[in-house]
Amino acid sequence: MTELVNFNGEITPEAEARVPVLDRGFLFGDSVYEVVRTRKGGFHSVGRHLDRLERSAGRIRMKLPLPRVELLERCAETVQAAGNAESYVRIIVTRGTGTAPNIDLAYAPEEPNLIIMVRPLPLPPADLLEKGFSAEVVSVRRNDPRALDPAIKSGNYLNNIMGLMEARRDGADTAIILNTLGQVTEAPTSNLWLVKNGEALTPPPEVGILEGITRGLLLEFGEEGGADGKLSTREQLLEEKDLREADEIFMTSTLMDIAPITRLDGHPIGTGRPGPVTLELSQGFSAWLDQGGGD
Ligand code: PDD
Repeated sequence: MTELVNFNGEITPEAEARVPVLDRGFLFGDSVYEVVRTRKGGFHSVGRHLDRLERSAGRIRMKLPLPRVELLERCAETVQAAGNAESYVRIIVTRGTGTAPNIDLAYAPEEPNLIIMVRPLPLPPADLLEKGFSAEVVSVRRNDPRALDPAIKSGNYLNNIMGLMEARRDGADTAIILNTLGQVTEAPTSNLWLVKNGEALTPPPEVGILEGITRGLLLEFGEEGGADGKLSTREQLLEEKDLREADEIFMTSTLMDIAPITRLDGHPIGTGRPGPVTLELSQGFSAWLDQGGGD
């Protein structure tokens, strides 16, 4: 099990890696990032992740330090040096090490900093996946897309941290965050789905979410009818009451694929066990991903 960090091309053990105090990502959250994983040793859906990294950087008018092929080579080199069975790869690009602790871009350097963190892939605890997560609809609201748009995967996660802190304070495993209009958005680091009448529904991008790669893949998987031609997934605007009337709820992310939520605000959802659609989707989807789906 090895944790390595590649800082602008130099690989060190994670415990020895240092970011300069004038780095704008450290000072202001002036950065973008991606979390990629390997599956059977290869980067999974990496093209989609790099597309999103480019979009995030473009939205904050930051240039990426390397062309895509070289960025990928640098990731591969770090993964290889770490030698873990499966890897978690965090690609962080900050607007570089400035010349003063001042937000003004006059103090920003020419070059961004590129930090690649490689760790053994952390999988969610099996018992939690089996019994399902508890969730709370928190009072903290998702950033309005006209402020810091949640579609930008930036290094500023305070909105999500505050949502998660509130849920944890109240004894829940995770948070469900609404937007300022009371519409359902997502969880702190995953997208949200509910099942109603056999269909899996997830909020559309306009409500203010990160458009998850896993979410996109599950929408494609559902469009194809899922593994047995029966499973349907689509976007739909969701209100808080839809959550309370849902047959099942689950989350999606790169690190979890599909993870069931079985309690909402202290009450069981359906039977209080992961529901049949979640289980069927989860098995079919993971098998599809393992066979190279979404690459
Ligand atoms: N989080 N929504 C938010 C706010 C996220 O941070 C993430 C991912 C997702 C799911 O996106 P994807 O399917 O592309 O992983 C949704 C990553 C895993 C993280 O920050 O650790």
